[in-house]
Amino acid sequence: MCGIAAAALRSKFRMEMIPLLLEFLKALEYRGYDSAGIGVYDEVNRRIIIWKKKGKVESLAKILRNVRVRAPIGIAHTRWATHGIPSDINAHPHTDCKNEVAVVHNGIISNFRELKEKLEESGHKFVSDTDTEVIAHLFEEYLKSMPPFEAFEKTIRSLKGYYAIVMITSKDPTKIFFARKESPLVIGRGSKGYFLSSDMVSLLGSAEEVAVIEDGEYGWITEDDYFVTGKNRRELSFFKPSWTPQQAMKGQYEHFMLKEIYEGPTAIKETLVGILSDDNIFKAAEMMDEHVVAVAAGTSYHASLIFSYLYMKHTGKYIITLDASEAPHYKNLLRGTVIAVSQSGETYDTLKAVRLAKKNGAKIIGVVNVLGSTLDRESDISLRLRAGPEIGVAATKTFLAQLTILYALTYAKVGMDLEETLRPLPEVVKESLEMSAGYAKALANKLYQKRDMYVLGTGISNFVAMEIALKIKEISYIHAEAYPAGEAKHGPISLAEKGFPVLIAWTPEDEDKLEVADEEFSSRGSEVYWIAPEKDIPIPKVSWEIVPFAVTPPGQLLSYYLAIKRGLDPDKPRNLAKSVTVH
Ligand code: M6R
Repeated sequence: MCGIAAAALRSKFRMEMIPLLLEFLKALEYRGYDSAGIGVYDEVNRRIIIWKKKGKVESLAKILRNVRVRAPIGIAHTRWATHGIPSDINAHPHTDCKNEVAVVHNGIISNFRELKEKLEESGHKFVSDTDTEVIAHLFEEYLKSMPPFEAFEKTIRSLKGYYAIVMITSKDPTKIFFARKESPLVIGRGSKGYFLSSDMVSLLGSAEEVAVIEDGEYGWITEDDYFVTGKNRRELSFFKPSWTPQQAMKGQYEHFMLKEIYEGPTAIKETLVGILSDDNIFKAAEMMDEHVVAVAAGTSYHASLIFSYLYMKHTGKYIITLDASEAPHYKNLLRGTVIAVSQSGETYDTLKAVRLAKKNGAKIIGVVNVLGSTLDRESDISLRLRAGPEIGVAATKTFLAQLTILYALTYAKVGMDLEETLRPLPEVVKESLEMSAGYAKALANKLYQKRDMYVLGTGISNFVAMEIALKIKEISYIHAEAYPAGEAKHGPISLAEKGFPVLIAWTPEDEDKLEVADEEFSSRGSEVYWIAPEKDIPIPKVSWEIVPFAVTPPGQLLSYYLAIKRGLDPDKPRNLAKSVTVH
């Protein structure tokens, strides 16, 4: 789940190579920030130059501040470490023994040890612990007896695992080679030249059109052309990205996460416009007949659990939501119709479950935010969120947009009027944010030094509690665990003592249960706080069905302010990446 990017620039833009690659990296940083690096071909001195640094893109930008190089081709990488600790040496790009190659890679080369051993026997010297370095040396080896592109083809044919790779060589300084197997890669073109990236969001400011590289394809780009092949040589179908560069900027907000929390109402509104603009939702609802299961990870998993509950309440039938990482254990269930929910559409575990399901002959309904992502393309019907780019690692607005689609699917199935039922949702979120913001901040100021806490719910708010606990954990590093309120007395309550914090995610379904849990914890000295109408974090009074839209946004704000008070960067929590493309 690293981020890779590349640019092949026309003559008058070549002095802009380094700032441009840094700009791409900043937009890709959500994919990993263990280290960052850039490699370019310096056309004046006719050599490859690489700069790389442990830590965020900012550290790399510092060492490049006064560097001026004219470069026709360049590649860049931001790393989420898999093989080898985060360090300057393990940072990408990697090179060969002669420094004639620079390569960056997102994925895992599973046979790198065998390849490395053989290459070492033939005299290649390795300097890093990464799997990626093997690509550079293998290419160097093949280059001894064939032209560069053939050497590249042969290199990728020797690799096992999955990857998106981009590579430059001083032996052909007009081209950037690329290959894709399972990890995402898009191509872009604009007035400055041609580009490659793991995510089109990074190209929004430079590419007027983008196209998706399909699994198993490889080829090259130059400043004004491309070549792509794989099973078939093909013309790419370029399209104009529907997102604007402004959507991928922070604007007046200090962090993307805060901006995206406040974009919740718009994300729902736009998603609703999308739902009502075609009949995909009805086609998808028709596909849900005999056997239906859902798969998803993280926040998407929680959205899907809410869907299972809502669907059961409306139809009397239960759609199991499987945690995508566990789904292979349940592969016999992956048949009939499988609903895969994923913001990025690139989550490895979710895609793996989808592919297992396809082998079982299942039809796939994708619920996805990123247009052109793997899930978007591999689904029989793709129900697209219109949440816009989500840059913060924490999923916020897309959770609400996912719910909007999943609610629509449920309502379509039971013949309810979608416009009438869904239209009030943006207003609920807006009102909830307005009512709760100050209180969420104040509570964060009170709780920020706590180490652990519980988040309790019941009925539909159980899943909201799970989502709030995830948000608190990932952004503020406070250990937050969700339990059904009634379950807490079966073990978790033994942690109750003076000052132990408990947050209650309200629902009107069975309020007594929540009151009882409050009593049980308070009487043991715990501090109990409610996200509920007229309570500690006040929200509008809504029916049980609307609870996720009223209770989750204040929970998101609470986690955000906890992180801020603890001096953390909520957009880039440690050890995480926005889209998890490894297993
Ligand atoms: O792109 P996806 O929705 O498939 O991503 C799934 C999870 O990795 C993601 O929701 C993750 O849990 C977020 N960091 C949650 O905020």
